[in-house]
Amino acid sequence: MHNPDDLRDKTILLGVTGGIAAYKAVEVVSGLRKRGAEVIVLMTQAATELVAPLTFQTIADNPVYTDMFAEPKRWNVEHIALAERADLFAVVPATANIIAKAACGIADDYLSTTWLAFSGPRVVAPAMNAEMWSNPVTQRNVRELARLGCEIVEPDEGRLASGAVGRGRLPEPAIITEEISSVLHADSSLCGHTVLVTAGPTREYFDPVRYLSNPSSGKMGYALARAVRERGAEVHLVSGPTHLIPPRGVNLHSITSAEEMLDRCAQLWPRVDALLMSAAVSDYRPARRSEQKLKKDAGDPGELVPTPDILSNLQSNGGGRFVLGFAAETDEDSALQQAKDKMLRKGMDMIVLNRVGECRGFGVDYNEVVLIDEEREESLPAMHKLPLARSIVDRVVQVISD
Ligand code: PMT
Repeated sequence: MHNPDDLRDKTILLGVTGGIAAYKAVEVVSGLRKRGAEVIVLMTQAATELVAPLTFQTIADNPVYTDMFAEPKRWNVEHIALAERADLFAVVPATANIIAKAACGIADDYLSTTWLAFSGPRVVAPAMNAEMWSNPVTQRNVRELARLGCEIVEPDEGRLASGAVGRGRLPEPAIITEEISSVLHADSSLCGHTVLVTAGPTREYFDPVRYLSNPSSGKMGYALARAVRERGAEVHLVSGPTHLIPPRGVNLHSITSAEEMLDRCAQLWPRVDALLMSAAVSDYRPARRSEQKLKKDAGDPGELVPTPDILSNLQSNGGGRFVLGFAAETDEDSALQQAKDKMLRKGMDMIVLNRVGECRGFGVDYNEVVLIDEEREESLPAMHKLPLARSIVDRVVQVISD
């Protein structure tokens, strides 16, 4: 995915401690920089044994801080000034040692002293041997950091540096970068709400290996799920087949066909108070699905019949929820009117008109939309789907809280 440039004007302190995964922090710095952030790296002495500070200095394009008593590199960047100026402090990877020190308030080097002086949002990405991770003392310390408001990026399970398999691996750098971005965009405006988001295509099979579908990648829907989650809502993401990793903290319900999407959404419907319907549901399905692969010379694969309209079905099972739908249109001249008609016909509170084209809409990272409700139409500039999702959710929050 291209970078959404959503960390412009943000300053991030990145603490690197002495775990073998320290090399992955280089990629985290690079990812944050590509998204527009200024990154200042602080390393423990042990971390400098694993990766040279010069590597971080070059990627971050900033001095690296390791030694409490070295000459200040700039007049205003001693540890207190650093702590005051940053928007977020992340420790990647975080060893059991720094987690223990942070949980107890021990400040005995540059990194831990700056951590103690910092009062903004924090992200901790632990990585260590599986036994150290599951040790009750480490678990207690991690819970304490979470209680103090740190976002913990839980380690993955897999092959560890020792060769053993277990929990303790640092998650992929892209996941850590996403979490940092989410923390910086978090607020509690949808706390207490349960939101259903649909995403991706549906597949309607003719036979075991062939289906009718569309090029939806799920990117728009997954970005919406992330943006809603950032606002503190409970999120259920009903998704057709995609290659995407679901955002953390979101309940994923994987389905294949339009019928399955309807069934799962209908089960969730009594619990939700808002629906964001971004899935590209196939409008037709083959009337019959062959048990065996159809032979090329068997002739016509059969007639097509309409799939159920999910939005209309859900609405008829109880209204009173906020409903946002999408309209993917290709005819420039009639797109606006078609979207408005669709909004009224399907009982939506708001519709996102998606003028699909070569570089926007299906499959790509960017989109250019018009947000329409009963009172106004707002054209948004072409932008990456993540900031776009955040803008759409801003509007949803305004309407829900009116
Ligand atoms: O997934 P991406 O690659 O990121 O691409 C994003 C997208 C282009 C798929 C998405 O932004 C989008 O436009 N989704 C809706 C596409 C679509 O099916 O539009 P529509 O005009 O056919 O349907 C209108 C609305 O009715 C949609 O909210 C749709 O989810 C819903 N619908 C459609 C058919 C159906 N049987 N039941 C429905 O509820």
